[in-house]
Amino acid sequence: MTPEELIDTAKKARKKAYAPYSHYKVGAALLGKSGKVYTGCNVENASYGHTVCAERTAVLKAVSEGEREFEAVAVVTKNGGSPCGACRQVLSEFAPALIVYIADKDGEFRTTTLKKLLPDSFTPAHLAEGNK
Ligand code: THU
Repeated sequence: MTPEELIDTAKKARKKAYAPYSHYKVGAALLGKSGKVYTGCNVENASYGHTVCAERTAVLKAVSEGEREFEAVAVVTKNGGSPCGACRQVLSEFAPALIVYIADKDGEFRTTTLKKLLPDSFTPAHLAEGNK
């Protein structure tokens, strides 16, 4: 799967976004180690704080279907917005070495990594050490 293909899948997922409050639609496509792609969009709520981002929608779909290891994620917004802190943390639980493609609606994109987006993160290993 090329970056462009993953981005195109995220672009299609973005069309499903439910964003009547912010009008900021986000699409994500998460590539599992199995080769399967899990999509997500943001799903807002009248009680704003219960909104779920596109990236977390995708990773929760994947994990709930049994996939826990990931290669890459593509995130598409109208203007190349970067994944929020909560999504970075949730992705890092399962994919600390994730490649991240951040794209705009025209397909322009930059490539980065979750390690760069979330350095010095809190990980499951910290909990394990705490239990010793
Ligand atoms: N949003 C995402 O879906 N992903 C992010 O990483 C940043 C923000 C959504 C949440 C909300 O529906 C809208 O974008 C505006 O914050």
